[in-house]
Amino acid sequence: MTAVPSDHRPARRPFPTGFAWGAATAAYQIEGAAAEGGRTPSIWDTFSHTPGRTENGDTGDTAVDHYHRFREDVRLMAGLGLTSYRFSIAWPRVQPTGHGPLSQHGLDFYRALTDELLEHGITPVATLYHWDLPQELETPPVGGSAVGGGWPARDTAHRFAEYAALTAEALGDRVPTWITLNEPWCSAFMGYAAGAHAPGRTDPADALRAAHHLNLGHGLAVGALRAALPASARISVSLNLHAVRPLGESPEDEEAARRIDAVGNRIFTGPMLKGRYDDDLLEDTAHLVDWDALVHDGDLAETSRPIDLLGLNYYAPTVVSAPAGGRRLPREDGQGAGSHSVWPGAEDVVFHRANENVTAMGWPIDPTGLSDTLTALHREFGLPLLVTENGAAFDDTVSPDGTVHDPERTAYLRGHLEAVADAVDAGADVRGYYLWSLMDNFEWGYGYSKRFGIVHIDYATQQRTPKSSAHWYAETIRRGGLD
Ligand code: FCB
Repeated sequence: MTAVPSDHRPARRPFPTGFAWGAATAAYQIEGAAAEGGRTPSIWDTFSHTPGRTENGDTGDTAVDHYHRFREDVRLMAGLGLTSYRFSIAWPRVQPTGHGPLSQHGLDFYRALTDELLEHGITPVATLYHWDLPQELETPPVGGSAVGGGWPARDTAHRFAEYAALTAEALGDRVPTWITLNEPWCSAFMGYAAGAHAPGRTDPADALRAAHHLNLGHGLAVGALRAALPASARISVSLNLHAVRPLGESPEDEEAARRIDAVGNRIFTGPMLKGRYDDDLLEDTAHLVDWDALVHDGDLAETSRPIDLLGLNYYAPTVVSAPAGGRRLPREDGQGAGSHSVWPGAEDVVFHRANENVTAMGWPIDPTGLSDTLTALHREFGLPLLVTENGAAFDDTVSPDGTVHDPERTAYLRGHLEAVADAVDAGADVRGYYLWSLMDNFEWGYGYSKRFGIVHIDYATQQRTPKSSAHWYAETIRRGGLD
């Protein structure tokens, strides 16, 4: 009998037929070409160019030059055997002023990218908003115009729906799956409460207004996408739902977990999937914002327009306890920065590391948060699910022979794919997995100091080198599951 070559061993844990084996990126993190083809600044250009906002003053001006190297990058994806690729469309590239007609030049880039993907048998998944709001929509309105003010302003939701409709009309023939927003929690609370993300504002009431207008923008966009896209198109949203766990069993710790679940999760799943804001969330935040004035009649019917798939971004669990003796302790999960709380109405909740086995971000590694969340989402909403982001940063180094050996990342990915398989075994309908990220890239406030890629980037030469985790992922895809 001939020995079976190692890469032809059958999968021990096969994944469902048609499962999408993907990787994810976002426009501002990889494209560069920030001033080319008529692209205007987004809030992230303004923020990253403001001294002190990002590590080393890093910006996305050049990033990994994907705008010019996308054909090489698609060849890389094909070499790994990816069956799907999640990217985001830069709003200021396709609609430079944030309103009015689209730029054909901007659209041409995404036409060329999606053509290239399709020619290589890779299914495109497009995210419409991965945090790069055109700056013109953030700058306060002038002279009686309704346009501007960012997400705390209601008009921005309407601008988003218009951009979604026009973009879907232009690219709907080639993109079968559309994601409205990426992590609206980060847009609202990192951007407008903590100020650690663009636009860097620190007003908790504005953050709650932003959250509602993101929900509204999502719903209006779902309606616009349905009208513009073929009936076969699938519409989704990517939420970074917090796998919240109380530290102990005391009622006080349970209460802390309830509050974080309210303003971290249900503030989006409620309006998007149930057509309501839960009473406890409204009570926790009533001193900050007048919800009756914020939420207009009919809004919740818009926000809850049905979607086809729910996208989950998962990195680490969130462990919380009650305020200790009324003292506010520093956050430990790496998601807050500075002295402004990212949790309006739950500012005094204390955060703990789930364990000390952490990534370069300081995020604890615990795949059970992924299986638990997928299973809970399946039970509560019954929707098909996608893992639209999951991955880890480590301090990778290039060996003298030019290879990059990252066994910790491989272990992270393996553990989390096991967790996906566990959720599938428990009945969850998980349709795909998009690891974060295809390549090292601009990690927001951390600049280029954190590497999440399975492909290493030498930023001086833009040379791409698949890490050992990329070879492992390729073999997993070839087998159709875990060895
Ligand atoms: C998520 C973002 C993504 C990337 C990862 C590490 O919150 O959606 O762009 O930065 O974190």
